[in-house]
Amino acid sequence: MSTDLARLADQAAAEIAASADEAALESTRVRYLSRRDGLLTAATKRIAGLPAAERPAYGQALNDAKRTIEAALEARGAVLRSAHLRRSLGEQADLTLPPRRVRVGRLHPVSRTIRDVSRIFGTMGFETVEGPEIDDDYYNFEALNIPPGHPAREKWDTLWIANPLGDDPARPLLGRTHTSPMQVRVMERRRPPVRVVVPGRCYRYEATDAIRESIFFQYEGLAIDERLSMSDLKGVLYSFARQYFGGERAVRFRPDYFPFTEPSAEIAFSCFVCEGRDPGCHTCGGDGWIEAAGCGMVHPNVLRRVGYDPDRYQGFAFGGGIERLAMLRTGTPDIRLLYQNDLRYLESV
Ligand code: DAH
Repeated sequence: MSTDLARLADQAAAEIAASADEAALESTRVRYLSRRDGLLTAATKRIAGLPAAERPAYGQALNDAKRTIEAALEARGAVLRSAHLRRSLGEQADLTLPPRRVRVGRLHPVSRTIRDVSRIFGTMGFETVEGPEIDDDYYNFEALNIPPGHPAREKWDTLWIANPLGDDPARPLLGRTHTSPMQVRVMERRRPPVRVVVPGRCYRYEATDAIRESIFFQYEGLAIDERLSMSDLKGVLYSFARQYFGGERAVRFRPDYFPFTEPSAEIAFSCFVCEGRDPGCHTCGGDGWIEAAGCGMVHPNVLRRVGYDPDRYQGFAFGGGIERLAMLRTGTPDIRLLYQNDLRYLESV
């Protein structure tokens, strides 16, 4: 009985080895292994009619036969497949043709810049947080020491939105004009020390030009602790500039005014288009510098409002435009290029 099985397996192996192509191999497989009427399947069914004492040996022989047949199928299959592959490559593929072009996408320069800003300030211990683009008068102005009627509101005109959550006209909503409201929102929720950087979209009523858009991105930085000074602020911003530009741009730091910082300063980078040599330069307006951020020591009124004791805690804040950073590094002369979705531009930066 067992010898019959061994003979069956040998016969199958010989037929398998002689199968000329994958179709022939498949019909050989079916002839032996088909569940319905394969030769080996028929032999398997015979086990039921055997005396119990013979069954184990027969079962063993069945397994051996099956393994032999399967191994032969596997081996022949591999040979036929690789022959097929070689043949079709020889016939169809012209290996001298250039490869098909793979179009790889990339991050938008604005997204890239946001990531760079988070990463660089991250190396200095600033955690990245985000907040609402639609905010209210309190956070955007009042808590930042800009009461109603304050002249600073003039330069931060924006889109106002009827408050859909209730008709309290005293608290209309607005597209935030800067990321500075997040200073207040973060301080309300945390106790010092605080060190955050906040990237996000802002809105302004703006006559668009080469460096101004009415929808744009800013990043805000805030650090509050017991012993922070203007020199920490300067150190952080210079370190950022060095890491972001690799030392290529000159940095100008000079006094400015913001209601929520005292003293306040402005940081500017040298114009990459004209390097200060073209009085008619559209990018810098001819003065050779591009304002990049406002900054200063957080005003005691702002601290007091969130319940921080200004005699114990001080800190600095800064806020600047993401697009300007992106433009400065990619050599993009006009902010509008960033938002026109022109692939000729986007693929070049
Ligand atoms: N939020 C100001 C703006 O958009 C920039 C700014 C100035 C941010 C001083 C600050 C700051 O954090 O301390 O013009």
